[in-house]
Amino acid sequence: MINTIRTYREEKNITQETLANMIGITRRSVISIENGKTMPSIDIVFKISQALKVPIDKLYYPETATDKLVDNIKFIDLFCGIGGFRFACNRTLKRLGIKGECVFSSDIDIYARESYNANFGEYPTGDITRVDAKDIPDHDLLFAGFPCQPFSIIGLGKGFDDTRGTLFFEIARIIKEKQPKAFVLENVKRLVGHNKGQTLSTILSILRDLDYFVDYKVINALDCGLPQKRERVIIIGSKKPFNMNWSIKAENPKTLEDILEKNVPDKYYASQAIVEKRKAMHTSKYPISIWHENKAGNISSYPYSCALRAGASYNYLLVNGERRLTPREMLRLQGFPDDFNIVVNDSQIRKQAGNAVPVDLVSCVLDNFIPLIFTE
Ligand SMILES: C[S@@+](CC[C@H](N)C(=O)[O-])C[C@H]1O[C@@H](n2cnc3c(N)ncnc32)[C@H](O)[C@@H]1O
Repeated sequence: MINTIRTYREEKNITQETLANMIGITRRSVISIENGKTMPSIDIVFKISQALKVPIDKLYYPETATDKLVDNIKFIDLFCGIGGFRFACNRTLKRLGIKGECVFSSDIDIYARESYNANFGEYPTGDITRVDAKDIPDHDLLFAGFPCQPFSIIGLGKGFDDTRGTLFFEIARIIKEKQPKAFVLENVKRLVGHNKGQTLSTILSILRDLDYFVDYKVINALDCGLPQKRERVIIIGSKKPFNMNWSIKAENPKTLEDILEKNVPDKYYASQAIVEKRKAMHTSKYPISIWHENKAGNISSYPYSCALRAGASYNYLLVNGERRLTPREMLRLQGFPDDFNIVVNDSQIRKQAGNAVPVDLVSCVLDNFIPLIFTE
């Protein structure tokens, strides 16, 4: 049996300890129940259902999956940017021996479309708000790293229509029409706490109302083998019940040294005045570090980069307090391969790298998620 107890408990911000106290068992028993190691009595399942305010029939499902993976997965890449999801999906599918086919992509930004074409040989469709969902080819898996626009209008309690005017609405209407087997969505960590959690819970309940089992987790690119602290919420959903294993296994984690270029043109060096000012304020304890200036002007340094940002000031990240990152270094920090073709100017590629989803973060998720869902 698959159970969704952990998903609902975390969503309701209830600790294992609290749940254990609510139903009169030990925390260890809660862990064992959530991991599927213990099948609780119907009496305990009833108490869990009352404590989490979730109907019993939403807590347990029979396991139907076989071990045999499908041969082929068709996917679409919404808000595709420079294709972070597509690189990650191709990487995971190759590892799993599954053939992948991207059947639709979309981005409104002409420069992002140029970069995407230079790397995948196809120009994405433009503004998704103008695309009739019926015109999108059938697919098994939908990806969308939707922009972190203000979410203030979501969460007024009106459900699906409540999100009209947001880009999440575009995703929901496409899922509603096309009913893919599964989806993976990405957004900034801030979404989780927005409007005291109300915004995310509206998004999750809309996805559930579209007949999907849903789970989510905040994941840090640092834990996925990239030397960048970048926390993102990943929302996954499937027609089939699943018990996601969110433990991340980063193979061959990269260090800053792996990322930094050896010969860097002078244009990336900050002015002497800036370097002197920084060094008067801060001394790093690391031999190789990235210096980060926060909004208040304070400097800190780490043996990894803080999150790349699309619209950040020019010098807010400086390698060893001296120079800006090159475009190739920014792409590497986001997990893009070295054969990524750069065809736009520095300012566009900085924006594109800053907007992208870390490739390794998505592939870590897909390595666990795809084998759960895409079995015959
Ligand atoms: C957070 S970025 C996603 C980046 C992408 N995941 C990647 O790895 O590069 C959001 C993207 O949504 C695009 N976008 C914004 N509004 C859009 C719209 N109405 N239709 C299509 N794309 C849109 C932006 O141009 C931007 O590239």
